[in-house]
Amino acid sequence: MRIIIEKDYQDIGKTANTFMRELLINNPNATLGLATGSSPVGLYKEMIADNKAGITTFKNIKTVNLDEYVGLPEGHDQTYRYFMNDNLFNHIDIDKNNTRVPNGMAENLENACKEYTDYVAKNIPDIQILGIGSNGHIAFNEPGTPFDAHTHIVTLKEGTRQDNARFFSSIDEVPTHAITMGIADIMQAKMIILVANGIGKSKAIYDMAKGPVTTDCPASILQSHPNVVVIVDESAGYLLK
Ligand code: GLP
Repeated sequence: MRIIIEKDYQDIGKTANTFMRELLINNPNATLGLATGSSPVGLYKEMIADNKAGITTFKNIKTVNLDEYVGLPEGHDQTYRYFMNDNLFNHIDIDKNNTRVPNGMAENLENACKEYTDYVAKNIPDIQILGIGSNGHIAFNEPGTPFDAHTHIVTLKEGTRQDNARFFSSIDEVPTHAITMGIADIMQAKMIILVANGIGKSKAIYDMAKGPVTTDCPASILQSHPNVVVIVDESAGYLLK
C-alpha cells in the first residue's frame, strides 16, 4: 500500500487524477470503478477538465459504481445515479449506456445483486476509486461484512446514516438499506485508489493502513491488495506520522 499525504483536498484530486489520466491515455477502452461521496468529487473535477481540454476521452470507457441506496425513486437527487450524472457523466463525453450503478429499485433485489456481481466479474475495473466511511467501511460494506461477500443488500449502520444525513433534509429521509458491491468484487480491481480528507477520517485511515486486517475495519483488507494508492490530506493522515 502506497500512502501519499497531500496538503489539501484540491491536491488529493490532482494527484489522484495523474493516475487516472495515465490510464485513460494508455487504455481508451478501460473500465473504471467509481465511488460517490464528497471525497472523490475533486478528482471528478480534474477528470472533467482533462476531458474538456481534449487530453482524455471517455467515448469507449465503461464504468461500474460501487453502491446505491435502496428505495429512492429514479431521478431522486440523493440517488447515487443522480450524483454520478451530476458530478461526472453529464460533463464528459461518455456514453451513459456504458455506465452502471446498482439498481436500488429492482423488484427482485437478490437477482439485481447477482447480475451486478456477474457484470463486475466480466468488467473488472482497471482503476477502482474508493472513499472510506468514518467507521472504515468501503462502498457500503459495514464493519462485520465478510471479506468474501459479493454484491449484496446491507442494513446501514446508524452512524453511517448520520454521516450521510447532511445530504437529506432530515435523518428520517436517509434510506435504511443499500445495495453494494462486496469486498470480493472490489478486490478484483487491478488498481485501487482510496481518497480521504478531514480529521473525521483519521482513525479509519490509521486502522486501514496500520491496524490488523479484520472485518471490524472493512478497509483493512486493502493491505492484502497488490496495487493500492491511498491519497489523503494532512488531517486524515495525521495518525500515520
Ligand atoms: C458513503 C458511500 C461510500 C463513501 C462514504 C464516505 O457511505 N457509500 O462509498 O466512501 O460515504 O463519504 P464521503 O466521501 O462523503 O465522506
